[in-house]
Amino acid sequence: MPPPEIVRLPQPRFEGPVSVEQTLLARRSMRTFSRDPLTVDDLTQLLWAAQGTTHAQGYRTAPSAGALYPLELYVVVGHVVGLPTGLYRYLGREHALHAKSPRDLRAEMASAAHGQRPVERAPVTFLFTAVYDRMTAKYGRRGVRYVDMEAGHAAQNLCLQAVALDLKSVVIGAFQDEAVKPIAMLPADEEPLYLVPVGR
Ligand SMILES: Cc1cc2nc3c(=O)[nH]c(=O)nc-3n(C[C@H](O)[C@H](O)[C@H](O)COP(=O)(O)O)c2cc1C
Repeated sequence: MPPPEIVRLPQPRFEGPVSVEQTLLARRSMRTFSRDPLTVDDLTQLLWAAQGTTHAQGYRTAPSAGALYPLELYVVVGHVVGLPTGLYRYLGREHALHAKSPRDLRAEMASAAHGQRPVERAPVTFLFTAVYDRMTAKYGRRGVRYVDMEAGHAAQNLCLQAVALDLKSVVIGAFQDEAVKPIAMLPADEEPLYLVPVGR
């Protein structure tokens, strides 16, 4: 039995009815969402697209300089059928969630993002963070660039998967790092990089 703070996720799908061309054509930053929840299947698919493991050696859906994988992915869950509200960290290798807090953190996170409404209203908001040391230990200052590039790859995967699921998303870079860190309970060596609210 896994410990209670670990939530196993259903297997993601590796086929879908929408082409990559259609997702590219339809992707748009969308900032208003209905009150409808997401499903655990939606969440599973989005997490896998962003940072899922696709190879026995741990390679992921997004490329990573030196395969060093500096990114971490969290999800602020407000309204997902079958999953309690709270903050979770995605465990890509296990395709599971580590429950970090049972609180609905959407309003606090929105406040840290200069009151941006999509973060308050979306049923889920993803938070990409980075441990820069994982990259700079090998690549020095250039490693900072590599980490930021990688976050773009992962966030785009997430946005295109959202389109394929007929969901809306917007990437958000405008937030106060020092406010986000305690809300997400980030370790000292982890920096917040990107917020991505997703809804219907
Ligand atoms: C690095 C980055 C940061 C962004 N930050 C925000 C943000 O804080 N709030 C927001 O509403 N949109 C944000 N956006 C979304 C842009 O406003 C949006 O991509 C742009 O208007 C083009 O529209 P499109 O995404 O629909 O093509 C950001 C986009 C990028 C790439």
